[in-house]
Amino acid sequence: MSEPTGAARRRGPFQVGDQVQLTDPKGRHYTFTLEAGKNFHTHKGSFPHDELIGAPEGTVVRTTGNVAYLALRPLLPDYVLSMPRGAAVVYPKDAGQILAFADIFPGARVVEAGVGSGSLSSFLLRAIGDQGMLHSYERRADFAEIAQANVERYFGGPHPAWQLTIGDLQDNLSDTDVDRVILDMLAPWECLEAVSKALVPGGILCCYVATTTQLARTVESIREIGCFAEPQPWESMIRNWHVEGLAVRPDHRMIGHTGFLVTARRLADGVEPPMRRRRPAKGAYGEDYTGWGGKDAQAGGSGEAAGGAPGRD
Ligand SMILES: C[S@@+](CC[C@H](N)C(=O)[O-])C[C@H]1O[C@@H](n2cnc3c(N)ncnc32)[C@H](O)[C@@H]1O
Repeated sequence: MSEPTGAARRRGPFQVGDQVQLTDPKGRHYTFTLEAGKNFHTHKGSFPHDELIGAPEGTVVRTTGNVAYLALRPLLPDYVLSMPRGAAVVYPKDAGQILAFADIFPGARVVEAGVGSGSLSSFLLRAIGDQGMLHSYERRADFAEIAQANVERYFGGPHPAWQLTIGDLQDNLSDTDVDRVILDMLAPWECLEAVSKALVPGGILCCYVATTTQLARTVESIREIGCFAEPQPWESMIRNWHVEGLAVRPDHRMIGHTGFLVTARRLADGVEPPMRRRRPAKGAYGEDYTGWGGKDAQAGGSGEAAGGAPGRD
């Protein structure tokens, strides 16, 4: 039986064409591709790639300046943070949340927009596997090109389950019987009508947005379109810990914000969403509320450029 796409590059001794992540004595990472006959240069000397070709992962190499570097293959979370970027990437902590709470399963039919730099596309392709289908839509040809190169470098070639279309999702979405739709873009509410036609009953819509104003408009628009069960919004934070002798405490620094996530399940056609059990808090839709769908409603930031939201670059 042939191995799933990309699996051969995830185990065994280092081979020509593999990605290698070096860690220096200060914990800094350097990523490169193994090529026979080449040298890796640092400001403290160099070493030949040939020293790693055929060696097991976890090998330590020394430069001509006698600095030791630990050599491992980058994990997907390492890879997406070090690969070339067009747009801001979905952070690994959020990709993990999306895989779990949007219930991405082997063989799933998934639609995604935008593709940006291809971080989430790589996580989705790994989860759906060769028997699944991921149709990704990206409005910017230059970003699509970067994403395609990143995804193909990670999997060691084209992934059989991946189709990439350049254009706006809302104008081009032709897929039907889609199990999951993931939107990571400035204005997911513009895509809701198209997405609701594509999703199967019980299917999941998952939106990733950078700001509270985008979050509010996304949630209210999902309620308004009327073919989804009550949307669930949340965010996640990871706090790393410093553990050394008696000094056991959270790290001083953390990524405080990346984005907000919302999931909603597609109802069967013709079904009215059940009434929410709790009434909105008094004043929630008071005189000052002008709605999030009107001309005046503004998203507070795009989170789309590589330098967008502070936590996403
Ligand atoms: C934040 S980036 C996506 C990052 C990507 N998920 C990743 O993990 O690398 C948002 C992308 O959405 C694209 N975009 C925005 N609106 C779109 C739409 N309606 N249809 C397709 N792509 C869209 C933008 O061009 C941009 O590349």
